[in-house]
Amino acid sequence: MASHLVLLLIISFVFSTSSSSPSPRFPRQTLQSRARTQPSRGGDRNSYRYETKYFSQQLDHFSFADLPKFSQRYLINSDHWTGASELGPIFLYCGNEGDIEWFATNSGFIWEIAPKFGALLVFPEHRYYGESMPYGNREEAYKNATTLSYLTTEQALADFAVFVTDLKRNLSAEASPVVLFGGSYGGMLAAWMRLKYPHIAIGALASSAPILQFEDLVPPQTFYDIVSNDFKRESSSCFSTIKDSWDAIIAEGEKENGLQQLSKTFHFCRALNSTDDLSGWLDSAYSYLAMVDYPYAADFMMPLPGHPIKEVCRKIDGASSDASILERIYAGVSVYYNYTGKVGCFELDDDPHGLDGWNWQACTEMVMPMSSSQENSMFTTYDFNYSSYKEDCWNTFGVNPRPRWVTTELGGHDIETTLKSFGSNIIFSNGLLDPWSGGSVLKNLSSTIVALVTEEGGHHLDLRPSTPEDPKWLVEQREAEIRLIQEWIRTYRLEKVAQFSLLKSSW
Ligand SMILES: *[C@@H]1O[C@H](CO)[C@@H](O)[C@H](O)[C@H]1NC(C)=O
Ligand SMILES: *[C@@H]1O[C@H](CO)[C@@H](O)[C@H](O)[C@H]1NC(C)=O
Ligand SMILES: *[C@@H]1O[C@H](CO)[C@@H](O)[C@H](O)[C@H]1NC(C)=O
Ligand SMILES: *[C@@H]1O[C@H](CO)[C@@H](O)[C@H](O)[C@H]1NC(C)=O
Ligand SMILES: *[C@@H]1O[C@H](CO)[C@@H](O)[C@H](O)[C@H]1NC(C)=O
Ligand SMILES: *[C@@H]1O[C@H](CO)[C@@H](O)[C@H](O)[C@H]1NC(C)=O
Repeated sequence: MASHLVLLLIISFVFSTSSSSPSPRFPRQTLQSRARTQPSRGGDRNSYRYETKYFSQQLDHFSFADLPKFSQRYLINSDHWTGASELGPIFLYCGNEGDIEWFATNSGFIWEIAPKFGALLVFPEHRYYGESMPYGNREEAYKNATTLSYLTTEQALADFAVFVTDLKRNLSAEASPVVLFGGSYGGMLAAWMRLKYPHIAIGALASSAPILQFEDLVPPQTFYDIVSNDFKRESSSCFSTIKDSWDAIIAEGEKENGLQQLSKTFHFCRALNSTDDLSGWLDSAYSYLAMVDYPYAADFMMPLPGHPIKEVCRKIDGASSDASILERIYAGVSVYYNYTGKVGCFELDDDPHGLDGWNWQACTEMVMPMSSSQENSMFTTYDFNYSSYKEDCWNTFGVNPRPRWVTTELGGHDIETTLKSFGSNIIFSNGLLDPWSGGSVLKNLSSTIVALVTEEGGHHLDLRPSTPEDPKWLVEQREAEIRLIQEWIRTYRLEKVAQFSLLKSSW
């Protein structure tokens, strides 16, 4: 059961009528481990030097129960830090749902600006991911609902707060300003941490952070509408071919030996057991393609050419005129799954780890309703069904979701009014090609809560290392981020200096 959960959630979301649980498509562990084994442009691990350390963390920050502590891994680099006496800043990347090394080595922007800021870099890992496992190991940590119950956003934020407070004390750097960074769920954590712990961090760069993808804050069809639009803007015939393919797949599957034929057409290693498996596999590719529709070649999830969706559509549209819909789809999706040309046959799901922590989070706090609309979507029409979502969560984890908890604990309703009069120093950066952008903050909320939006950007593209092919709008977005962060630090230091002279004058 476990090893297919991730896929099941995706499949049941779009294709099944009886049960359904959308699995939010943040980069998953499976793909991460694969990505890490490949030499990556700009993601070359040799260019990121850091020490790996461990910090003993409280398992439950919100009770005084006598629970075992756990080791939280963190990466640290002080090559460029100007030190405590200079109020040298501390840049903290809020680790998200995966191995922290993967996030650190895919966040070149932070490494590149460290010298300019004289910043200390720290990358604490999110609990229950990578090596930061409570109860000593993954198997124990993921055993059941009781052991998993400490995998929550508020515990993770408290980890970061406790961690950086202790780190500063050890470095006698209590007065150094902390700036938070994060992409995707990590960006949500960065924004939320700035709001929850304003005394601990002076500001946050929240890149591609869908903090509004909850309850009815944004229409549930937003995500799939954006994915679909990304394909439509390249080619309407490509969009239509994909839209027509779902029925073609089902029709083929109903034929005698149809599943066998489909397995052959799509070059699967093993025979398909259902057309849903195939549809889920395609759905997943399109969604990831929309996230990583970057303007230059990269291998964040998979090695891909620049503008990969354009490439997929070129294959779909450009197949020989007698090619069937399914042959076209195979040619297109091969750009995603087989760009290197080195894949002998496709595996449906090669997640060897089983249960994925994100699914637990999606079944508890991170309930992000998603639908697929009849009109604008190239996917099968589907209406989010909370009852069946809840049923799936109960069957899988023995837990009931709390879909309203995030907005109760962290806000979201009428965020404009709330944050205008309360928050400050947050950058919400988004690229509009990224399907998660629809759940993020795309408007300036105040003079210091700023939205930096790029029409042609993908999923936290701004956090990636610079490349010679960077388009002008990307260079400008990063420059704007640097200016804003400089301003936060400058203001903070002025206040510190003013306090200090006030103190001196009262001596
Ligand atoms: C979960 O596992 C722990 C450790 O083995 C055990 O003490 C606990 O009773 C289990 N909880 C449930 C709900 O099964
Ligand atoms: C601070 O120093 C103590 C004592 O050496 C150590 O146990 C702890 O892990 C350090 N904190 C961090 C965040 O490294
Ligand atoms: C189909 O089901 C069999 C038996 O459960 C399994 O071994 C096989 O891997 C499945 N095929 C695919 C493509 O997942
Ligand atoms: C991957 O691409 C290569 C080169 O085009 C091709 O020979 C191979 O059959 C493809 N693999 C799959 C699984 O389609
Ligand atoms: C939603 O799911 C529940 C539980 O699986 C089911 O009984 C109900 O018919 C579904 N509702 C719709 C509108 O499909
Ligand atoms: C928000 O304000 C900044 C200036 O601080 C500006 O560069 C940016 O374009 C504005 N964002 C939007 C979405 O209007």
